Amino acid sequence: NGIFAADIELAEKSTLEKILKSGELRVGFEAGYMPFEMTDQKGRFVGFDIDIAKEMAKAMGVKFTPVNTAWDGIIPSLITNKFDIIMSGMTVTQERNLKVMFADPYIIVGQTILLNKKHEGVITSYKDLNDPKYIVTSKLGTTGEMAVKSKIPKATYKSFETETEGSLEVVNGKADAFVYDLPFCVVFMANQGEGKVIFLDEPFTFEPLAWAINKGDPDFLNFLNNFLRQIKNDGRYETIYNKWIRS
Ligand code: ARG
Repeated sequence: NGIFAADIELAEKSTLEKILKSGELRVGFEAGYMPFEMTDQKGRFVGFDIDIAKEMAKAMGVKFTPVNTAWDGIIPSLITNKFDIIMSGMTVTQERNLKVMFADPYIIVGQTILLNKKHEGVITSYKDLNDPKYIVTSKLGTTGEMAVKSKIPKATYKSFETETEGSLEVVNGKADAFVYDLPFCVVFMANQGEGKVIFLDEPFTFEPLAWAINKGDPDFLNFLNNFLRQIKNDGRYETIYNKWIRS
C-alpha cells in the first residue's frame, strides 16, 4: 500500500533530507562538559560544540534544535532517532565506531589529571597512581573512565555521573585524582582549581573528538566532512576555538 511504500522510501533517505524537510537540525549532547557544552545562568546552552552546531544549521538553512541528553544513553538515543547527530565532545573509540559513524575529528585531546595537593611533586604521572591506596575518579561511560580501568588498573576507581562531582571529590580531599579530557581540566583550573589542586596536563591518551551519526548514511557524512574542512580553513573554526578553548 501507498503509506507503506512512502515509509520505506523515507527510511532509506539520508538524514540530510529529513533535516531539510523538517527545517531543523536536532543536535544531541550532554551539557556539563566545559568548554564544549554548558548551561549558562539563563539556562541557555553555550560552548564550542554549540557554536559549531549553530554554524552547521546555518549552512543547511535550518534551525538549530538542542537536545540535552544523559551521556550514558547518548548513543542509543541517536540510534532511536531522538536527534540527528551527536556533537558532544565524543572521542572516537573503536568500540563506539562499531555502532555509529564518525565524521573526521574536529579536535584532538587526551586524558589529564587533577591531583590532590598533598601529592604535589610525589605523583608526577598516571603510572604513580597505579596502587589500590589511591582513589581515582572520572565520569561514567567516558574515555576518562576507560583510561583509568585500562592504564591505572590497580587504583581504586570511583565513578561519578557528572564531571563536577568527580572533580570536586579531589578538591574536597575524598579522592586522590580525577582523570579527564584536557580541555575540561584547563577550564576547571582557570575557574576553581587554581591553588586547590595540581594539574598534570601532559595527556596520556590519544583522543580524536568527532561528530557521530547513524550508520549507513554516506550523504550526511560527506556533508559533515566538507563542512568541517570549510570552517577549518575560512576562519569560522578559529573564531569559535579562540572564544572557548584558547586560553
Ligand atoms: N571525550 C570523552 C568521551 O568521549 C568525554 C566526553 C563527555 N562529553 C559530554 N558532553 N559530557 O568519553
